[in-house]
Formats: sequence, structure tokens, C-alpha cells
Amino acid sequence: MSKRRTQACETLLRRARAIVDTEGTGDAALGKIKDLLVGLANRGEALFPRGAFAMPAAQGRNHVLALEDGDGMGLYLTIGLPGKEAAPHDHGIWCVNAAISGREIHKFYRRTDDASREGYATVEEVGSVTVAPGQGMAMSDHAIHATEVLGDVPAIGLALYGYALARFPSVVWFHPAFTSVRAMPTRRAEAA
Ligand SMILES: [Fe+2]
Repeated sequence: MSKRRTQACETLLRRARAIVDTEGTGDAALGKIKDLLVGLANRGEALFPRGAFAMPAAQGRNHVLALEDGDGMGLYLTIGLPGKEAAPHDHGIWCVNAAISGREIHKFYRRTDDASREGYATVEEVGSVTVAPGQGMAMSDHAIHATEVLGDVPAIGLALYGYALARFPSVVWFHPAFTSVRAMPTRRAEAA
């Protein structure tokens, strides 16, 4: 990886860490981190040339850009092919996105049942953000989002997560059409 890109990504992680350590991970703090990530993504092809990152064969893939030591944050370059969709889900950990090129819509949901029935859930859409160059997205620890790559070019962007993907908590998937919910196993136990 180019030295300039490595340095820029490590600087982003250090700045994000300083914000989290002093302000936590509330909406205001994540908003500041989002602005930093949009600034990094705005450096575009000069820092993140298309040829340096293999495209997915289908759907999408992530490339590691920088990881904190220990149980820290992970910064990735993400590529989603046109039409890639993800059903509503809750990562259990905050996430901030910014676009280098292309567009991806994030629809946000609120769970509306009381979680008392195993496997049953209802959700309602409460808003959306289209991540595109200059427009980022921040979501807090238990926000629920669904994603779809819009248009006919790949959505290429940056994603910063509170934990590295290899150490992710359980991701809970919602299927509104079936009023169902299912939690996937966490990766944190095996990675610990
Ligand atoms: Fe997600």
C-alpha cells in the first residue's frame, strides 16, 4: 500500500480515537468522525486509485486500510457492485461511511415490537441517507440499517467501524416481509 495512503489512514484512525476518547460515541462525536472520513474520501482517486483495490466478483468486498491495535477500530475501503442490497440489520457497533465514488442508500429502521417473541420482530423505516461523494453517514451502536447500491456504477467508499470486522459482535438481521429476526454468531469470542 502506498506510504501516503497508509499515513493518511493512520492519521484518520488517530483523530477518530482522540474524539472517541474525549467525547464518546454519541451522535455529536460520530458526526465529527464522519466529517473526517468524508474529508479523507474526498481525496479520491489520488489516494485510493481504482487499480490498487481488487473488485468483487459479485456483490461486494472490503479491503483493510488500517486497524488499531488490540480491540480497536477498523478502517476499510468498501466496494459494492450495482444492485447490491442488504436487508435491515443491527451490527451492535457504530459505523461511519463516506463515498469515494458511486452512491449507496442507507435506510434506517426502528424496531416496533417488544422483542418478547423468539424470532419475531417488526420494524418501521424512520429515514434514509444516500452516501455519495461529499455526503457521509454515521450510525450509532444499535441503529438498524438496510443498504442498496444505486445507479449503474460501483459504490466505492470508506467505512470506519468501532471494531474490526474480524472481531464483530453478533449481527441481527430483520426481515420485515416475514416479521422475522435472526442473530448471527458473534466473531468476538473466537477472535479474543
Ligand atoms: Fe451494515
